[in-house]
Amino acid sequence: MCGIVGYVGEEQAAPILLEGLAKLEYRGYDSAGIAVRNETSGDISIVKAKGRLKILSEKTDNGRSVHGTCGIGHTRWATHGEPSENNAHPHCTDDKSVVLVHNGIIENYQELKDKLVKSGYTFYSQTDTEIAVKLVDYYYKKTGTPLEALTRSMLRIRGSYAFGVMFHDHPGKLFAARKDSPLIIGRSSSGSLIASDVPAILDKTRHVYYIDNMEIAELTKDEVHFYNIDREEIQKEIVEIKWDAESAEKGGYEHFMLKEIHEQPKAVQDMIGAYVKDGAIDFSEVGLDDAALKEFERIYIVACGSAYHVGMAGKYVFEDLARIPVEVDLASEFRYRNPIVAPNSLVIIVSQSGETADSLAALRLMKEREVPVMGIVNVVGSSIARESDYTLYTYAGPEISVATTKAYSTQLIAMYLLAIQAAKEKEMIDDDRYAELLAEMETLPSKIQKTLDDKERIQWFASKYANARDIFFIGRGLDYAISLEGSLKMKEISYIHSEAYAAGELKHGPISLVENGILVVGVLTQSDLFEKTLSNMVEVKSRGAYLMGLTTYGNYNIEDTADFSVYVPKTEEYFTTSLAIVPLQLMGYYVSVAKGLDVDKPRNLAKSVTVE
Ligand code: F6R
Repeated sequence: MCGIVGYVGEEQAAPILLEGLAKLEYRGYDSAGIAVRNETSGDISIVKAKGRLKILSEKTDNGRSVHGTCGIGHTRWATHGEPSENNAHPHCTDDKSVVLVHNGIIENYQELKDKLVKSGYTFYSQTDTEIAVKLVDYYYKKTGTPLEALTRSMLRIRGSYAFGVMFHDHPGKLFAARKDSPLIIGRSSSGSLIASDVPAILDKTRHVYYIDNMEIAELTKDEVHFYNIDREEIQKEIVEIKWDAESAEKGGYEHFMLKEIHEQPKAVQDMIGAYVKDGAIDFSEVGLDDAALKEFERIYIVACGSAYHVGMAGKYVFEDLARIPVEVDLASEFRYRNPIVAPNSLVIIVSQSGETADSLAALRLMKEREVPVMGIVNVVGSSIARESDYTLYTYAGPEISVATTKAYSTQLIAMYLLAIQAAKEKEMIDDDRYAELLAEMETLPSKIQKTLDDKERIQWFASKYANARDIFFIGRGLDYAISLEGSLKMKEISYIHSEAYAAGELKHGPISLVENGILVVGVLTQSDLFEKTLSNMVEVKSRGAYLMGLTTYGNYNIEDTADFSVYVPKTEEYFTTSLAIVPLQLMGYYVSVAKGLDVDKPRNLAKSVTVE
């Protein structure tokens, strides 16, 4: 979604803003702009462009033609008003007394606009951001202080926002404020920075402050001050980001997605290493002791997209292994259906970004009801990470490609770890079984690697199906959870219509869609369900489907039915999702490449969905 970068310091701002915005490209955007103040003339130049950042870079000679050491930049993903130069940020007042960039959505924009029009303001764009900048200006003209102008505006605005603001009368200063939209402040050797996401400033610094809701930061080249909504100064601790800048680069791969698929063995290894110590699972970092885990009688897993699919896989593992009932919900449904949460329940919110609007709203709803919430989160310091009672980080490192891969894989590990520990605490498994499960989990990184080593076959197969119109994925139990994720990977980056069906449901409707030549991918990693799914495959084959079978080494009889077979190493059946998903990620990736699509930034999608 939209991205914000700001800089005030000793260096020229424009190149830093453009480089930072380029690091945020993965979030998805349709236009971009920068505003830089020239210290000599005092003027603020604003340059904007519709489309890719490279157009903005060309317009500004890579930032060299815009002089000044203080500025703000933005990549916009249209919500109010079409993608256009006019609607792109930064927005400003007619006299450029206030210039502002904004992420988020202002819900009461019409009401505020009516008020501002009555006060003589004119509007030139269709954005809610123009209302924000003019509201700040209105209060600035009334009060004469940026801090009061911002706090008064924040109290009037309903919705979510992260703002980066420059005031013409305050040279060498940037202001930032936020509510429900991420924003961090960095300190580097040459100055101070703002950013909506860590990768934007990793090249400059790894030392950041997190601004909380309804707080304001005032930045100069030498220092940063923080204030609450009552304009009282507050102290904050600087945090060191452990990710290095390199992990946010492509590192020789053609696309971030391919790089991230290949990083899965390491991500999974890091994840296991973080929580398994001396042959036992240790959640002390999460703040969850084993006694507390034992007391939970029911679990609700709430998430969106792929993270929801992790919840689906988690349900099968938890229920079978620990015998704890689990409900899995889409966050966008859960938050609006007045959910009944039984006593002694744990709600688990799964989110790579930690900023997904619906997941965050579900978390807050549960906190209002005093239900304990665990966040399984990748982005350190994100809203879900900070607001959860227990935060289980996933150690996947920065994930840049819009389609998630390595974060999904580490989220699965989080599910296994929780289920195994709960099973042990509830005495559903003995010490030997516990040790056996952990030992097998430790083999997953090398087994994922082995699956990756087979990628040429998938590449060849994907090129054959690049022009498919529809693809179906079928499976039962955990294989259904894998199918859901495989299907999402396919549709989101290849734009081929695909659906996942619980194989047993085919006869209840979907089978009527099967026609000659249609590709059906059968997932069969669960031995007790193998025959059942195989017979569903035979049914679709007899109606003309072309079959791909995905199973474990040894199940070679699948070749009697499937036209093309893919094998993954054998593992404990609870863990097969971690292996079987890899060929499906690769298949989506290679189909997208074969079609010449923008793999890392699929159309209409954003990496972090901070608006509902
Ligand atoms: C799909 C994908 C999305 C996300 C979903 C939730 O590849 O990435 O479906 O899984 O938008 O995002 P997070 O995990 O950031 O809450």
